[in-house]
Amino acid sequence: MKPPRTCRPAEILCLVVCCAAGCLLNLAGFTRGNEPRNITASVNSNVSMSCAAAWKDVQLSEVTVNCQTDSHEVVHSFRDDEDDLTNQAERFRGRTEVIHKDIRNGKASLLLKNIVPNDMGTYHIYFFHHGGYEHCIFHLQVPGMSV
Ligand SMILES: *[C@@H]1O[C@H](CO)[C@@H](O)[C@H](O)[C@H]1NC(C)=O
Ligand SMILES: *[C@@H]1O[C@H](CO)[C@@H](O)[C@H](O)[C@H]1NC(C)=O
Repeated sequence: MKPPRTCRPAEILCLVVCCAAGCLLNLAGFTRGNEPRNITASVNSNVSMSCAAAWKDVQLSEVTVNCQTDSHEVVHSFRDDEDDLTNQAERFRGRTEVIHKDIRNGKASLLLKNIVPNDMGTYHIYFFHHGGYEHCIFHLQVPGMSV
């Protein structure tokens, strides 16, 4: 009987190096996407928050977009080739959109319409494609409404 096949040192080394490289790339992507952006929108206006990823020309069915507030309220969600608003917070109902054409080109754009004072706050866009993801943070200011 042959002994079970074991990894050769070269294979193990390759695995370690590849893992390390992958982690570095992920970290770099995360750091870039993670830089919070300040945006300003006046009451009754529409605002767009865009999160660009490294991938391009993907199938809509291969990506997931989750837009959330800091307190984990669902603002908008897109998965399995369609918008999924089952868990959307009531206050965002009918006021959100993600631009499907942009998603295909590696950009997750959340459109928030008819801004109200209470929309002020922090928004997260999580953009997944196969193993990778991008995370963008936005601080939305609604001027004239600060205490
Ligand atoms: C965003 O605004 C905060 C305070 O309102 C400020 O500290 C920060 O530097 C701003 N960030 C950018 C990228 O402008
Ligand atoms: C915001 O978007 C809605 C729906 O697309 C549109 O009817 C409205 O005119 C827009 N408002 C502004 C200020 O652009």
